[in-house]
Amino acid sequence: QVAAASGHTVVLVDQSDEILKKSTKGIEESLKRVTKKKFADKPEAGAEFIKKTLKNLTTSTDAASVVHSTDLVIEAIVENLEVKNQLFKSLDKFAPEHTIFASNTSSLQITEMANATTRQDRFGGLHFFNPVPMMKLVEVIKTPMTSQKTFESLVDFSKAVGKSPVSCKDTPGFIVNRLLVPYMMEAVRLFERGDASKEDIDVAMKLGAGYPMGPFELLDYVGLDTSKYIIDGWHSLEPNNPLFAPSPLLNKLVEEKKLGKKTGEGFYKYK
Ligand code: 3HC
Repeated sequence: QVAAASGHTVVLVDQSDEILKKSTKGIEESLKRVTKKKFADKPEAGAEFIKKTLKNLTTSTDAASVVHSTDLVIEAIVENLEVKNQLFKSLDKFAPEHTIFASNTSSLQITEMANATTRQDRFGGLHFFNPVPMMKLVEVIKTPMTSQKTFESLVDFSKAVGKSPVSCKDTPGFIVNRLLVPYMMEAVRLFERGDASKEDIDVAMKLGAGYPMGPFELLDYVGLDTSKYIIDGWHSLEPNNPLFAPSPLLNKLVEEKKLGKKTGEGFYKYK
């Protein structure tokens, strides 16, 4: 959405036409929200902006057949290293020489994905934040193998889509998640111990720390499955680090398919 809205030609790839239809509808709705604000007193210009953006966007279920015409691949699939490596390995065969590969992973090692390809120097991380149309930040991740030219291209692309890039080495959680995820897990532990209700914890962090959402609202918003993938991955890397300890309550909710806002229930219920 943000790439198409800033004039880039985008092919959105997913596993089925059904998912792509849902995604396109989500983008249309999000564009309407953005437009309502951006073109508040110019509805015609707003309609033109939506039309132009959607014209830049096509969809496909076959990544290999569309990758030949791309300068940049941004992967945002399931947080599973093997699945990601498999995808990058297959795309590496079909993508042009100059094409840069980037992962939007929240917590997995970019270096390991780069090593699944033959283009380690043209591989980096581009980590966006939910909701991407609103959040201004992108973390640009440089592995020891990412070339300076690739890094600069990723920084330039981030600016071209209207974001403010920061750079970070390929370390677990980069900057934001390294600080944010242990904070959210600590909130769950506070609640699990019965020290405070989740409602009060959320109110406390909104009114006492000025956060736009409390930790439970944010966990539901990000997705409990995503949060669990992150913490499980870090726990396996550093089993003795108490900041990375898994939470029985989070695990239970994920097992019950209560994944947050997207499934209608997580820590809270949504209509
Ligand atoms: N698309 C487009 N516009 C959107 C949007 C979306 N998905 N979501 C919100 N907006 C815009 C709209 O312009 C909306 O105005 P509208 O009401 O006229 O439509 C405006 O934001 C305000 O939205 P709301 O009134 O619904 O609610 P808020 O004022 O609370 O803002 C929020 C919503 C921007 C999501 C704010 O609550 C917020 O900043 N929350 C914190 C988000 C955060 O911390 N994100 C990081 C998560 S961590 C992550 O992503 C990393 C990953 O790896 C796990």
